[in-house]
This record gives sequence, C-alpha cells and structure tokens, in this order.
Amino acid sequence: MIVVTGGTGFVGSHLLYLLTLENEKIRALKRKSSGTDFTKKVFGFYTDNVDKFFSRIEWVDADMLDYMALEDAMDGVGLVYHAASSVSFNPSDANAMIKNNIDGTSNLVTACLKRGVGRLCHVSSVAALGRDYDGRLTDEENIWKYSPRKSAYSVSKFFSEMEVWRGINEGLDAVIVNPSVILGPGNWRKGSPSFFYRVYKGMKYYTEGVTGFVDVRDVCRCMTELVKKPLSGERFILNSENISYKMLFEMIAENLGKRPPSVHASVMLTEIGWRLEWIRSKLFFSSPAFTREMARAGRSRTYYSNQKTKEALSFQFTPVKETVEWTASLFLKELEQKVK
Ligand SMILES: NC(=O)c1ccc[n+]([C@@H]2O[C@H](COP(=O)([O-])OP(=O)(O)OC[C@H]3O[C@@H](n4cnc5c(N)ncnc54)[C@H](OP(=O)(O)O)[C@@H]3O)[C@@H](O)[C@H]2O)c1
Repeated sequence: MIVVTGGTGFVGSHLLYLLTLENEKIRALKRKSSGTDFTKKVFGFYTDNVDKFFSRIEWVDADMLDYMALEDAMDGVGLVYHAASSVSFNPSDANAMIKNNIDGTSNLVTACLKRGVGRLCHVSSVAALGRDYDGRLTDEENIWKYSPRKSAYSVSKFFSEMEVWRGINEGLDAVIVNPSVILGPGNWRKGSPSFFYRVYKGMKYYTEGVTGFVDVRDVCRCMTELVKKPLSGERFILNSENISYKMLFEMIAENLGKRPPSVHASVMLTEIGWRLEWIRSKLFFSSPAFTREMARAGRSRTYYSNQKTKEALSFQFTPVKETVEWTASLFLKELEQKVK
C-alpha cells in the first residue's frame, strides 16, 4: 500500500493523480476538517474522467499532529510520500507553522519506524538548504545555518528535514526532495498559481530577484522515480531553471495576453510596501498579501544546481516556458468556463 500525506494540497493532488495512473489503490491522509474538492479539481486538469481515477483513493482522516491516527494509518504500508506541510509567509502563522511542520514530520517518521514502513519520500524545500550568493550555484551539500533573516517557513522546513535525517539514523529508508518554487495549475488564489491570477488582474511592480522554478509534474515524476532507485539517506534538488521574477511574470503576461509588470520595485519601495500592507491587514483584520519575508525573497538572487537529480535519474526538466504555457492555458480555460 502507498500512502500520500498532503493529498488535499497542491503537490499532493498532482502526485495523487500520477499515482492513480499506475496503481489501483492509494491511501491519502487528510485532516477531518478538509474537503477533497480541490484534489478533484486538479485531476480535472489532466482528465475528463475524474471519477475513474479519484475512486482509487482511500481517504483516511489523520492529522499529522495526531500520532495514534498516523500510526494506525501506516498499517500494511510499504511506501509513504510526505507532502503535508503548512506553507505561509505571514508572520502571524509562524509559531503554528513551525510546530505543525516539525511535529507532524516527527510523528510520521516515528510511525513509519514503529510500523516498519519500507520507504519514505519526504518533500522538503530549497528553503531547507544553505544558500550560495554572488551567482554561485547552491547544491545539496549547502548546509543551512540559522540567521535572524531566515523565514519561519525556512526554519520549519530545515527542522522538519532534520526529523527525517533522525529517522534515517534510526534505520528508516528515506529519500528527500528539495524543490525550488513549484509552478503549475492549482488554487489560483494561493501559492505560485496565484502569480497567474495576479498578472491577469494587472500586476504593476516587479522585483529583480532570481530563484529556481520547477514544474509540478516534474516534481511528482522525480519523486516516483527516486523511490524506485536504491538511494537512501540522500537529498535531491528539483529545479528546472534559475530565472528572475521579472522574466517569469513577463512569460506569464505574454501567455495570458496581458501587459507585464513595468515598474521596478526598489528596496525602499518593497520595504515601505510590506509595512503599509501590515498596517492595512491590522486595520481590516485580514491576512497581509505582502509581507517582509516576501519582500526579501523577491529581492534575493539564488541559483540552484539540478545536476545531481539529472544524473541520478537521467532526467530532463521541463523548461519554465513550457510550464508557463501549460498553466496559463488551464487558467484561461477555467476562466472561459466560468464566463459561459
Ligand atoms: N508550492 C511550492 O512552491 C513548494 C516549493 C518547495 C517545496 N514545497 C513543499 O511541498 C510540500 C507541499 O506543498 P504545497 O505547495 O502542496 O502546499 P499546500 O497546497 O498548502 O498543501 C499542504 C498540504 O498539507 C496538508 N497539511 C498541513 N498540515 C497538516 C496536518 N497537520 N495534518 C494533515 N495534513 C496537513 C494540507 O491539508 P489541509 O487541506 O487540511 O490544509 C495540504 O493538503 C510542502 O512540504 C512544501 O514545503 C512546496
């Protein structure tokens, strides 16, 4: 039996679809309070026959913070893909996110060890790596070091990964993937899919930051390929290309038939911007749409190496241009259907 955590989220839904193509039965864990409509929506990006594939999933309610439920869900399981995690750059979510991600992963690792689960594939992030600056490539050997400038998300992903390394030391057969920013169709108001919504609505500002981007289909393919290889106790960066946000937004705008953002957001502008947004969020009791962590991420320039993964899997990553074309076409299709 294969188990997927985070199957109601972006990566987990795309992964579930890929797995249901190859397997008759998959167990997906979710919180009791969560629905599965988003997962169905993601299946609809690939097929008109959603029910055929969706019915192969056995949904089990198990919060990552509920150890006993997790252990029960590991009964007779040979392989676990761990894609459940909080992802937030809102300072008010920081403590809950750090606790959720570290404790949740710790519980899962312990449950896998206790129930003798054969193999674990953990979805970490490039945020759990140390960074090289000045154009040098960051690779799997870069060690994360704490600094007050680290985002809470980065802290949570590093210490979550440490729980998996703890499990490996205790005998768990596990492989870790560290994706860069994952692009693909999903919830257009959340995460990277929201870039498409924001550009469609008319994005004015761009930043000069550079980071890595990877197609969600490549992330899922690499995960399912890596678990087939006799590779344990290793991590793999999943990254297609390192490009600027400016270039990315231009590509998105071109594919949506919109004007690209044209005003450079300087350091001063972004620093003023996140403070004003913080005040606005307090006045209106809402979540800030732009935070200090986002401002810093948007300005930083980090280049990630994908050499190790390419060599281990003989894998060719999808160019960002193709991912953007695919995602934009699904965004426009959904928009058309809503208008009809
Ligand atoms: N998206 C990216 O660009 C990106 C890049 C690099 C790495 N990653 C990593 O990829 C993984 C998946 O991210 P994503 O983008 O798919 O995030 P997402 O869309 O926010 O999905 C997160 C999933 O985790 C589940 N979850 C969170 N806390 C849980 C808990 N306590 N118990 C059970 N389920 C819980 C959520 O369930 P609910 O539906 O109940 O909330 C949801 O299914 C994460 O580890 C993230 O760090 C993402």
